[in-house]
Amino acid sequence: MSPSDAAGLGKFPDNFVFGIADSDLQVISEDISRELEDSCPSMWSEFASKAGNVFQGHSPLSGSPDRYSRWREDAELISGLGVTSYRTSVSMCRILKPDLSINVRAVRWYREFFSAIKSAGVSLQVTLYHWELPQFLSERGGWTNPETIEAFLRHGEFVEQELGDLIDSYFILNEPWCSGWLGYKEGVHAPGEKSLPRALLAIHNLLLAQGLMVKRLRQVNPARILSTAYNVTSAYAATLSDADLASRRFADGQINRWFLDPLYFGSYPEDMLELYGEAVPSFKKADLDEIRVGSQLDSLGINFYSGGMFAWNDDATCHFQYTDRAGGLKNDLGWSLFVPPAYPRGLYDMLLSLYQRYSSAGLKSLFITENGAAYAPREGIPPTQDADRVYYFEKHLKQVLQAMYAGVPVHGYFAWTLIDNFEWAFGYKSESQFGMVQVEPGTLERTPKDSYYWYQRLAKSRILCDALHFD
Ligand code: FCB
Repeated sequence: MSPSDAAGLGKFPDNFVFGIADSDLQVISEDISRELEDSCPSMWSEFASKAGNVFQGHSPLSGSPDRYSRWREDAELISGLGVTSYRTSVSMCRILKPDLSINVRAVRWYREFFSAIKSAGVSLQVTLYHWELPQFLSERGGWTNPETIEAFLRHGEFVEQELGDLIDSYFILNEPWCSGWLGYKEGVHAPGEKSLPRALLAIHNLLLAQGLMVKRLRQVNPARILSTAYNVTSAYAATLSDADLASRRFADGQINRWFLDPLYFGSYPEDMLELYGEAVPSFKKADLDEIRVGSQLDSLGINFYSGGMFAWNDDATCHFQYTDRAGGLKNDLGWSLFVPPAYPRGLYDMLLSLYQRYSSAGLKSLFITENGAAYAPREGIPPTQDADRVYYFEKHLKQVLQAMYAGVPVHGYFAWTLIDNFEWAFGYKSESQFGMVQVEPGTLERTPKDSYYWYQRLAKSRILCDALHFD
């Protein structure tokens, strides 16, 4: 093998997309958008106002990095990073007024920001729902109420009509498992409900909204590039006991198959239907035909942070609990990163198993739409020196490349995320920061970390130095 062949092994193809991702509500400063454009309160600021829901009462209303005023600076950081693509969301709270008319001031803001991105030669991928439900819809039942589906479709139409000329593609939903399961079953995300039947209803409506949105957008523009972004977890059993293996299957069923099977096969998985029993909402059979739009999507987006190791738990709804092995590396939120078998290899396994399961049902292309790690600054080390984040990115990108060598059509990778921001229930806690750019609390001054410069070099060279030997 000549040295140039060897370099080729660690090189991403020229058409592979290197991108960066964020979402509106996590960066915008809701207090400022509400004041200056009269946008609607989000269900997250309402959720955060109740003690105990978000770390130390943090909220999108204060302490946020203020993208609203500093969008020029952030657009420059994005173009300076050298990525070819940027994924962000357009918020329902900002686009829709309570009477479901359009908020023209918000549209104006998005046009300016998006024009700056586009004129820097960066393509724009818009998520239509990254958990930014207006509180006025949440009060009426949120995703358990079919009215929310109608409001969401209207939001999508407005975005396409007013901003579509600047948008290269859409991701319809972000992580419906989090919206539905964490928000309505576990109560740890807004709106904070704890009911299995209501969670399954919310999830059904989210999936239905997604299917109907595909139809609606394609009616307006048949050439629209459409995708969706799902969080997936590669599931491994803690031991080879029958019980732990069964718990692994239920974890995969709850987190992955309950969302992907209807999208690609038009049915919920039998084992999970049996487990959920009476809690499954009654719905029209025709809904499943609307939901089954996987083959019409141009790609599937995968948000991947860590694998999961599962053990049987009799008392848990789905009979599994996350478990751990001593001594493994974690990020600062306690998410196991390098404990075999919940290691970066989980991303490779996930990509292969998704492609094997769903390609015959129309899955043709995959993007990693989020991947990243939360680390607080290390004591005695300047906050911009984030070697552990670089290590995490390298190890995961290597698995992406390896999956591509194994024949999985992965066409791009979006790192999470540009600037430190509001990390949902963890607020602005320093251990929950995923940014490649540090945001100084108080002054909101932005300073690129080492990972920013590392990613910049990768986006330019496309060469992953560590990729010659796969492990
Ligand atoms: C994902 C979310 C994203 C961000 C990352 C860390 O679940 O989609 O908004 O919070 O986790």
